[in-house]
Amino acid sequence: MRVGMLTGGGDCPGLNAVIRAAVRKGIFHYGDEFIGFIEGWRGVVENNTKPLTIESVSGILHQGGTILRTSRTNPRKKEGAMDQCLKTIEANKLDALITIGGDDTQGVANALIARGVKCVGVPKTIDNDLSGTDQCFGFDTAVMIATEAIDRVHSTAEAHNRVIVVEVMGRDAGWIALWSGVAGGADVIYVPEKPIDLDAGAKILKDRLSRGKKFSIVVVAEGAKMPETDAQATHGTKVDEFGHARLSGIGQVVAEGLEARTGFETRSVNLGHTQRGGTPTAYDRMLATRYGSAAIDLVHQGKFGRLVVLRGTEITDIPLADAIAKTKTVSDELLAIATGLQPKL
Ligand code: F6P
Repeated sequence: MRVGMLTGGGDCPGLNAVIRAAVRKGIFHYGDEFIGFIEGWRGVVENNTKPLTIESVSGILHQGGTILRTSRTNPRKKEGAMDQCLKTIEANKLDALITIGGDDTQGVANALIARGVKCVGVPKTIDNDLSGTDQCFGFDTAVMIATEAIDRVHSTAEAHNRVIVVEVMGRDAGWIALWSGVAGGADVIYVPEKPIDLDAGAKILKDRLSRGKKFSIVVVAEGAKMPETDAQATHGTKVDEFGHARLSGIGQVVAEGLEARTGFETRSVNLGHTQRGGTPTAYDRMLATRYGSAAIDLVHQGKFGRLVVLRGTEITDIPLADAIAKTKTVSDELLAIATGLQPKL
């Protein structure tokens, strides 16, 4: 079969492992030919391709980023671009298209499925908020990087008797904040799922001081809403083609709010794209490899319009449309793990 592949949306450690697994299994076991589209849907709209061979996917397993590069191009937003995608798919005589991406990328795939394109999806977002799968590859790496950063700010916070607020990624869900915050022993964790309560946070910090702890660590997800306005903190007013603003700055808002309430010197640090860069963890390489292998298997089973997912410890598949229907947020039960570690004040 002739199989196309693309990576869309924000990059994510493990993308190359997915590409490599699908290509190797496809070529070695099914005799497939692969065409990679450059920079996500932009490559499909512009018919910008490169062949994916055993040689071109060699040595990429441990690499971050994506050898296909990526973009947030949304063909549904451009006049004639969806038709252009169909033309490209026909011109390349593709029997199937593997779309590796989050809800935006899969939303476009879903629209193309409705027009007869044979797509199989692989879920991707370090935010881990795609419903349908228990875990996305890249999340484990992001949590590891954020946890290491939290570990590191502990010693400098302690040395200076400071509060340090660490802003992590997580647009609509607080998975990275909760996991890295709990794993890193943060004292207060703010997530998009709950309103930011600065008074409650300040009480926890003051209580720590009363117990002789002169420093504290706070973790906040970038998408947590500002206390006064209930809006997300953004950098500028630009939005991408899917309508997403550039989130940034909630860490500083929280730092100022806590300092005003406690009088403790409070600094903020935004981890930003460091969480998405660099080499994936072994767990993410394995998960991504399982996803890539399962995706090419689905192609050969003729199971199109499906998304490979992790359920418990098993890889299975679900209708692609179901996966993009809603955001997977952090449950109250998991959030209670974090609050259970703090005194009731
Ligand atoms: O959706 C994943 C994500 O990492 C979000 O957490 C973040 O808001 C966004 O991508 C940032 O993406 P970029 O800066 O690459 O547009």
